[in-house]
Amino acid sequence: MSIMQILKYPDPRLRLKASHVNHVDNDIRCLVSDMFETMWDAKGIGLAATQVDVHKRVVVMDLNGDGSSPRVFINPEIEVLDATCVAYEEGCLSIPDIVESIERPSRVVIRALDEDGISFQEDATDLLAVCIQHEIDHLEGKLFVDYLSAMKRQRIRKKLKKNRE
Ligand code: NI
Repeated sequence: MSIMQILKYPDPRLRLKASHVNHVDNDIRCLVSDMFETMWDAKGIGLAATQVDVHKRVVVMDLNGDGSSPRVFINPEIEVLDATCVAYEEGCLSIPDIVESIERPSRVVIRALDEDGISFQEDATDLLAVCIQHEIDHLEGKLFVDYLSAMKRQRIRKKLKKNRE
């Protein structure tokens, strides 16, 4: 297992659209285990392969952030069950130290493959619903800052640049 480098906003590679995984094989399982290690090392609760510059539709998650609830979503798709939006304070490992309130549909059904390539379906509310929508956005090359005003986004870019210097 190894810790991968996490791309940081505004890296253009975060804008690439990830491709469908045709076979859940050992290469994918290796990627998954490296992604878990990378996510835990960075103290995150979710990570999309896009963020480690692998443009495949793979997401890992551990909503407790302590290794107790590891979850894998390969080729994840959602359908909105309740379009009523709820606001959550979102952060992102690719946008360090920035937290913003983002509104998303409150209830979705998730369809995905697990790391054995077995399909499953699950109803999601609260943090799971927010997190899967955030991660699927990554696979589409989208970031939570895209939901903010251009002015706010500009301010965030400046702040990140300053933090890097
Ligand atoms: Ni993120």
